[in-house]
Amino acid sequence: MILSIESSCDDSSIAITEIKTKKILYHKKISQEAEHSCYGGVVPELASRLHAVALPEILKETKSYFERLKAIAVTNQPGLGVTLLEGIAMAKTLAVLQSIPLIPVHHLKGHIYSLFIEKESTLPLLVLLISGGHTQVIRVESFECMEILATSMDDSVGESFDKCAKMMGLGYPGGPLIEALALKGDENRFDLPVPLRNSPLIAFSLSGLKNAVRLKVEACGGHKSMSEQDKADLSASFQKAVKLHLLQKSKKIFAKDPIKDFAIVGGASANNYIRNAYEKLCTEFGKKLHVAPLKYCSDNAAMIGRYALDAYAKKQFIDPDKIDVVSTKKRQAGMHL
Ligand code: KG4
Ligand code: ZN
Repeated sequence: MILSIESSCDDSSIAITEIKTKKILYHKKISQEAEHSCYGGVVPELASRLHAVALPEILKETKSYFERLKAIAVTNQPGLGVTLLEGIAMAKTLAVLQSIPLIPVHHLKGHIYSLFIEKESTLPLLVLLISGGHTQVIRVESFECMEILATSMDDSVGESFDKCAKMMGLGYPGGPLIEALALKGDENRFDLPVPLRNSPLIAFSLSGLKNAVRLKVEACGGHKSMSEQDKADLSASFQKAVKLHLLQKSKKIFAKDPIKDFAIVGGASANNYIRNAYEKLCTEFGKKLHVAPLKYCSDNAAMIGRYALDAYAKKQFIDPDKIDVVSTKKRQAGMHL
């Protein structure tokens, strides 16, 4: 079995995965959303302290598996340095105490592998990764070869939902709040720009749209003067503009890339409005849409464990003395994950 740990942002999570069957034998996650909600976003220092309490609490529940562990896996990039360190410190200690190998896991590769937790892997695959930290289209050829085809020039999809929710005084995380409110709203009421609509660039940008939302909130006299209907209409109009932007750029990629399998992963892939739009687009382009089960869309250790299974088979281990947070430089299209 492999014990995997995830602490790259505001979710403390541990999973136990059986190597032979790929089954998740144990999985628990403690989210810190309530604690960060009043700040409208994640406060790294607070997140780190909360991991220091939550991770040992979860680990206690996994003691009965300790004797059968063959490796420890942990997210070591990308993410918040101070929170990654909490998971790394625990993983390092466990690996040394148990004298078993340590596997460093790239968080975004974990998101991609969330697709293969309950299903066989389908490769090659085109993946749209939409999370709180990233918006990327990745061509996943194999375990070793994952090429970034398009990336965000500024805010990510999840981040834009979080920031717009904050502007409307809705709380954190913004994604599920905006999606729920949008169901009651008129998506055509507010005229918002679809980012890079007339640009040939195959890239994503959401800061301009976010600013347009801010101007609409100001025009309403600030969020305190907005009615529930105003907020629902603005949420729906914003979500529609995000969808149109993602679809427009995805169409350009679909037109170029013959890969039949397409997937959406990451926290924002839980959004049904976006999922439904991609279902239609994939039918139009003759592609098959793959999504991870809802419980594995946002950050979790099960996806880290799933990736670690393949890394274990390839003996991709790291010396516990050498593991550290890898500070990831901004990735450009054409680079590999
Ligand atoms: O993948 P994730 O858990 O963490 C990162 O790796 O960043 O993604 C969290 C992000 C948050 O920004 C959250 O607002 C967004 O995913 N999110 C959503 C939805 N559920 C979560 N965004 C849009 N619609 C949703 N239903
Ligand atoms: Zn994530």
